[in-house]
Amino acid sequence: MKEVKNICCIGAGYVGGPTMAVIALKNPHIKVNIVDINEQRIADWNDADLDKLPIYEPGLKEVVAETRGRNLFFSTNVDQGIQDADMIFISVNTPTKTYGKGKGQAADLKYIELCARQIARVAKRDKIVVEKSTLPVRTAEALKDILSNSESGFKFEILSNPEFLAEGTAIDDLMAPDRVLIGGDDTPSGQEAKDTLSAIYEAWVPKEQVLQTNVWSSELSKLTANAFLAQRISSINAMSALCEETEADVDEIARAIGMDSRIGPKFLKSSVGFGGSCFQKDVLNLVYIAKSYGLTEVAEYWDQVIQLNDYQKRRFADKIIKKSYNTVNDKKIAFLGWAFKKDTNDTRESAAIYVADHLLDENAQVVVYDPKVPAEQVYADLEYLNTHDPEEIRKRVKIVNDPYEATSEAHAIAVLTEWDEFKEYDWNKIFASTLKPANVFDGRNILDKKALEVIGFNVYNIGK
Ligand code: NAI
Repeated sequence: MKEVKNICCIGAGYVGGPTMAVIALKNPHIKVNIVDINEQRIADWNDADLDKLPIYEPGLKEVVAETRGRNLFFSTNVDQGIQDADMIFISVNTPTKTYGKGKGQAADLKYIELCARQIARVAKRDKIVVEKSTLPVRTAEALKDILSNSESGFKFEILSNPEFLAEGTAIDDLMAPDRVLIGGDDTPSGQEAKDTLSAIYEAWVPKEQVLQTNVWSSELSKLTANAFLAQRISSINAMSALCEETEADVDEIARAIGMDSRIGPKFLKSSVGFGGSCFQKDVLNLVYIAKSYGLTEVAEYWDQVIQLNDYQKRRFADKIIKKSYNTVNDKKIAFLGWAFKKDTNDTRESAAIYVADHLLDENAQVVVYDPKVPAEQVYADLEYLNTHDPEEIRKRVKIVNDPYEATSEAHAIAVLTEWDEFKEYDWNKIFASTLKPANVFDGRNILDKKALEVIGFNVYNIGK
């Protein structure tokens, strides 16, 4: 086993930041440098005011408060970080390609490749390189190729160590992971590298929960895990549509099937559809990979998970329109929530974006309140779709800091994120100020339907 005194993580995002903060916390003898080319992001990570960290995660600022300046450092000096490190994690973004071959499905690996080339160029000794980003199966082959063709002649051992944390519970997930997965070559040097990384995790994770596999199994396990999780949501959401037609209740069904130990109770919450940077991107990537091996049926099977999710978002928007007497033209629709889930400020692929876009097609006025998402992010998310021009978006979409202002005079209220605070509002006060009939569309099934109906609201749930 090699001794690791210095770790570098390339990418200070939702994964790199929290993951490395916890590694630094649990391994005070290792210096951890997180580097990123995004100067603003690094400045925010270094901000003296811990409420200004670029990522909101419960428990994160406490970990950063303890480690930052002790053995955790944030910098834009990527070359230096690489040179100093015994082990380099690559935790950069791997978005869906928006151009060329595989557009709309394949993962864009340009950021990964740039990192590999930079490591090859500036490294001055042997390194262990760890894939932390979620990558298509066999990416390590390409990394190895780039690194082994470097002129330096140094030896690079490649490991795959996908991250399974969920945003919103990242710190808890990192502190007590179900498992840590480490893939590497079965050669003596590959085994040594796997043991070296295992030892870092074993500072706090029980040894039997640190799994070692070959590189390809590790890479493909991450895509498989996300595909299974997304599939479960699409499965329960498919049933929600049927429930709405039949007076069955999707939450009762989830409870009934969840007690079957073969199925289990988790991840059976029906909603307006899944979001987040990973599920859609990783399932699409899986579809692309299956297709590229000629496995059409496999590709079509997983593609249906995405199609069902798109259907669920559209169905929610259509219900708002239908219950608004088939027109939302110039009507104020209040959105409670914009983040893709509670306890995060991340909005990537949030269902709210697509529901809003659909309502904008119908000339609605959308007023958004989210406790953690800034106004400019909402505009950026809508502009990114390229379906409405920026001026129109700014005219039709308003972002407010007060939920009561959002709901005042609204024709409809839609819950898009399951923030706990929405349950605590003074719904009598909201009822008094909304237009009647007072329609609430609970896209997360979190509000007390009966209590709201007593007040006078019409409450439309998912799958009820
Ligand atoms: P992110 O977009 O929040 O962070 C990536 C960071 O990498 C950005 O700050 C970017 O500036 C930086 N970067 C890109 N190229 C760089 C370069 N050449 N040199 C230095 N910095 C560079 O992405 P996030 O969410 O942290 O995801 C990273 C990877 O982890 C992705 O592959 C994702 O699929 C995977 N993942 C994400 C999870 C999540 O919940 N967000 C969970 C598990 C895996």
